[in-house]
Amino acid sequence: MRKIVVLLLAIGCMQFLTAQPVPSIVGAGKSIDPYKYSIVKKADFSTASVSSAHPLASMVGAAMMQKGGNAFDAAIATQLALAVVYPGAGNIGGGGFLLGRKSNGELIGIDYREAAPAKASRDMYLDKNGNVQMALSQTGHLASGIPGTIAGLFATLDYARLPFKQLIQPAIDLAEKGFVISEKEAAGLNATKESFSKFTTRPSALVKEAKWKAGDTLIQKELAATLKRIQKEGARGFYEGETAKLIVEEMQRGNGIITLDDLKDYTAKLRNPVEFDYRGHRIISFAPPSSGGIIIGQMLKMIEKYPVGSYGFQTLKSVQLMIEAERRAYADRAEHMGDPDFYKVPVKTLLDETYLAQRMSDYNPEKASASVAIKAGSIKESEETTHLSIIDGDGNMVSVTTTLNGGYGSRTIVGGAGFLLNNEMDDFSVKPGVPNMYGAVGGEANSIQPGKRMLSSMTPTLVLKKNKPYVVIGTPGGTTIPTSVYQAIVNIIDFSMSADDAVNKPKFHHQWLPDEVTVEKDFDAGVKKQLQAMGYKITERAAIGRTEAIRVLANGKRETVADKRGDDSVAGF
Ligand code: GLY
Repeated sequence: MRKIVVLLLAIGCMQFLTAQPVPSIVGAGKSIDPYKYSIVKKADFSTASVSSAHPLASMVGAAMMQKGGNAFDAAIATQLALAVVYPGAGNIGGGGFLLGRKSNGELIGIDYREAAPAKASRDMYLDKNGNVQMALSQTGHLASGIPGTIAGLFATLDYARLPFKQLIQPAIDLAEKGFVISEKEAAGLNATKESFSKFTTRPSALVKEAKWKAGDTLIQKELAATLKRIQKEGARGFYEGETAKLIVEEMQRGNGIITLDDLKDYTAKLRNPVEFDYRGHRIISFAPPSSGGIIIGQMLKMIEKYPVGSYGFQTLKSVQLMIEAERRAYADRAEHMGDPDFYKVPVKTLLDETYLAQRMSDYNPEKASASVAIKAGSIKESEETTHLSIIDGDGNMVSVTTTLNGGYGSRTIVGGAGFLLNNEMDDFSVKPGVPNMYGAVGGEANSIQPGKRMLSSMTPTLVLKKNKPYVVIGTPGGTTIPTSVYQAIVNIIDFSMSADDAVNKPKFHHQWLPDEVTVEKDFDAGVKKQLQAMGYKITERAAIGRTEAIRVLANGKRETVADKRGDDSVAGF
């Protein structure tokens, strides 16, 4: 029997407060009701499933698979739907990474990370005294890299079955006819209203006079028109013609530097995934310009020779070991990782077992290491990104993490085109070697150069067991992304947890600099005290990540889980 947990949106709207059965997924835009829907936190589906940041987007993806599409079709349709229903991070004005494994074993890595415009330069965010102007790399027109998402979706189409016209239709419907927003979305839009007004030069559907409230309908006509241009003209409907003209006009109104040529020249790139074994499982993750795959590889390989399972879940012993692996991997991230087309990233060495054993040679299970003694350099990223995990009936697996960088990106909505631009330029090291506003520093490997892609932490990941699909996983969360994926994998493999527990148990994070461990509020108080006694500085923080996971059970069912930390929701059949 299908195991399902439904969580109703607490949005103060009667239609949402009625207990709903799980919606049966019959067809996108038809049986999916954008005015009445529920959050489904977990379910064991027998054939195909999607977990994403929004119930409507997950339902759209599942519907495409039910209509004959595969996991790649679902990934395209889900991302497009997220661009409408989850404006804080879903996007067509940002970028991302798609990691796929076809049922025949072929691996696919699509890099559609944003790139620095041709007019970008190493010191573009420094004032005349050489001081960093963080406001410019984080908000407004100058903060945006050249968007990659639409190029990524068309690169994905090579592996899909359905026509793009069909895959984009639900997003068009959702934008044109509207959908009701949740309490969290209303709060996000209200909290961002002031900066939308500051960094947006034209009226926008996301900004209205009165406060947004749960249950309001959000209609985005300009976004619908942009999506229709893409439907009609393909990627050129975004990178050329009317949409490109609107982007460049927006740039000119706000002193941005993206040009028509930047847009026309942008391409998605295929990347060979990072692969390694961990306790008999094959782990596949994303290569540079994401740091994610290498970091989780380093952390997992550093702890592999210790019997972590016998230490117990979040005991002092297991947490302290895992923190020390995190510290060392993040120190390497700062120094050695950047866009491989501009900087030679020593991937092989970073994942070499002898090298990693040597990195742990000064590990002391009795006390905290000091980051100053480990190495120099780190980068802190904003945390508003989004992830989707998908599996289909044939066993094709797709893991996608995509981002505008900060929540609602640069806060600049393209006038007349209705979508937000990213603030991904802040993921570069804006002044190599000097601490940024988060107290972290970055290296030359990630300095700004025209056409270069900024270093990411996004970690879309797949796990195989006996060479068969086992787990599809990933999360948003900036620099906390790799630690969340790492901990969820350890939870499943070392602590034999369900995907549900692996995702929803408390998380902790150390990123080398600042030299502190951040923990979620429900992290064990006793272990926290013991860590402090060993010399760790511990800081409590709000949620770490919003992990979406699918685990294939021994009976073939897809245990599909959406993180408890947001409106995230699963769908499938
Ligand atoms: N902007 C978040 C990341 O790429 O890691």
